[in-house]
Amino acid sequence: MNNICVFPGSFDPVTKGHINMIERASKLFDKVYVAILVNSSKTTMFDKGQRIKMLKASLKGMDNVSVDSFDGLLVDYAKKVKADTILRGVRNAADFEYEYEMYMINSELSSDIDTVFMPADKNLAHISSSAVRELLYFGKDIKAFVPDGICEYIYNGSKND
Ligand code: PNS
Repeated sequence: MNNICVFPGSFDPVTKGHINMIERASKLFDKVYVAILVNSSKTTMFDKGQRIKMLKASLKGMDNVSVDSFDGLLVDYAKKVKADTILRGVRNAADFEYEYEMYMINSELSSDIDTVFMPADKNLAHISSSAVRELLYFGKDIKAFVPDGICEYIYNGSKND
């Protein structure tokens, strides 16, 4: 094990749940690549540049964490950055079912890259990017769900960027 991990996702937008996972991962791994990848079953509210900006603003001061994006398969990205671990957060049984299927496909594609599941913090397990998008759609306050400092970006940046 080389102690480099990829924490992949859509991050549309990044939530407090993601940041908690990344903080914990930064203590467990020497290097963490937070990578925006394409989920072909989702259309996004924020474009890639906006999602990168929001992640970078939320991860300031975490020296062993880098933000990146990749348009191909997750296992190919992991190979590119020489990571042998994929880290995914699991909030509930539904997440586990989906993540286990992803693990099986990824391990079939590359047996050298393993997957580690990290349980969501019990105070943050109800938070999802899709809930944030839904609240935004209905004009509700999303401060409780996203990292401090990106609300302004979400309310203004998505229009101006
Ligand atoms: O935050 P999400 O939407 O749950 O993240 C899912 C993501 C982007 C990590 C997943 O869709 C992914 O790995 N996409 C890249 C393409 C890929 O490698 N798919 C797995 C084999 S079908």
